[in-house]
Amino acid sequence: MLIIWKDEFCIDHAAIDADHRNIIGRINYIIRAITPGCDLGEISSCLRELYRVTCAHFFRETILQEVSSFPHINEHRKLHERLLSELLDYIQYVEKLASETKGDRHLERELAACKSFLYRWILGHILDQDKKMTEYVEAMRTADDEVLNQDIEDLIPYIVKTAGVNAEMSRVV
Ligand SMILES: [Fe+2]
Ligand SMILES: [Fe+2]
Repeated sequence: MLIIWKDEFCIDHAAIDADHRNIIGRINYIIRAITPGCDLGEISSCLRELYRVTCAHFFRETILQEVSSFPHINEHRKLHERLLSELLDYIQYVEKLASETKGDRHLERELAACKSFLYRWILGHILDQDKKMTEYVEAMRTADDEVLNQDIEDLIPYIVKTAGVNAEMSRVV
């Protein structure tokens, strides 16, 4: 049950799509890594990396929405906050599993639930909410080059430098 990239996921044929591919690639990596007997500490580290990269992506989207006068920006920001909070809860859940349920016979079912959570977690957001940005893509091209073209991995220190680390993110970075 991996996420296969489809043309219908495309938003801007640029940074937003590259970020989404990066995020989906990380989710697929984690889904593959979750197997009976896997190292849950390693899974939790990957989830934390996913959280950091997703924070960077949401930061980029918000800046692009600001410069393009995207009308749903406030509601979109709240949805991002909710997604981050859900992921953070899941990271804590996996960490609890790692510390408490070694050898538990129900672990396999819990891990299957973790895979389906990741599968659904951001896909609906990309298809339903991010898709609304498609008609603002031209206006987004007026954004600061640093935000528009920066590789997502390099965007994390940029966020820390320019926007500070928000309370949620400071629990992970
Ligand atoms: Fe997005
Ligand atoms: Fe978004």
